[in-house]
Amino acid sequence: MSQQQWTAVDDYITGALHGPDEALDAALAASAAAGLPAIAVSPTQGKLLNLLARMMKARRILEFGTLGGYSTIWLARALPPDGRLITLEYQQRYAEVARANIARAGLADLVDVRVGRALDTLPQLADDIEGELFDLVFIDADKPHNADYFAESVRLTRLGGVIIVDNVVRDGQVLDAHSEDPNVQGVRRLNDVIAADSSVSATVIQTVGAKGYDGFAIAVVGESA
Ligand code: SAH
Ligand code: DHB
Ligand code: MG
Repeated sequence: MSQQQWTAVDDYITGALHGPDEALDAALAASAAAGLPAIAVSPTQGKLLNLLARMMKARRILEFGTLGGYSTIWLARALPPDGRLITLEYQQRYAEVARANIARAGLADLVDVRVGRALDTLPQLADDIEGELFDLVFIDADKPHNADYFAESVRLTRLGGVIIVDNVVRDGQVLDAHSEDPNVQGVRRLNDVIAADSSVSATVIQTVGAKGYDGFAIAVVGESA
């Protein structure tokens, strides 16, 4: 099995099941043209996020790490007309590209892109939501802060709500307790926090595809293992 095959199968699935998508294609093209790194979720991963949000009938979604708004668009499309998605992005320039992509997708009224370090913008956000907790959180920003983002997300998520974390397998490097990669250590600390929190029940699903070998952590809040 090879990366080439995983990518070919992802392309086949996208062609067979997804159909053309102008807004998403345009978002990727504009992101590339603006020099953003090509690290958005793949189309099949984006569709998975969209389906999970729809299965939950999510009305309030929080995202850490907007980049050009590709995963944001997939998630926001799952919302009802009075739904809301808040997405946190450190880079002002990325946020501007994302806002344009989100507007082109017709989702500007549902999405609030907030610029700054997520740990700095979270306190204001916690105030602004006035107790209306999130149904779904997608954590996909800087990996060394994963454990902090997860702990904050638990506080901001309703009972029965779901927290998803991207990039938690990392080619299997997550196995290496002595890894010097801060991203790997970030994932391992995340797993420690999840394991120690009796208010969440979680697993990790390993994935292969156009983005290589990685995985998602999925946690339900308010239900102990
Ligand atoms: N979710 C996006 C990809 C996000 S890539 C998608 O799938 O389409 C990770 C993003 O996190 C980058 O845009 C990066 O600038 C942002 N980021 C890094 N550190 C951050 C921080 N401290 N707070 C908020 N965002 C951060
Ligand atoms: C990187 C970040 C991601 O969120 C991802 O899915 C893949 C790569 C990165 O920072 O390299
Ligand atoms: Mg990611």
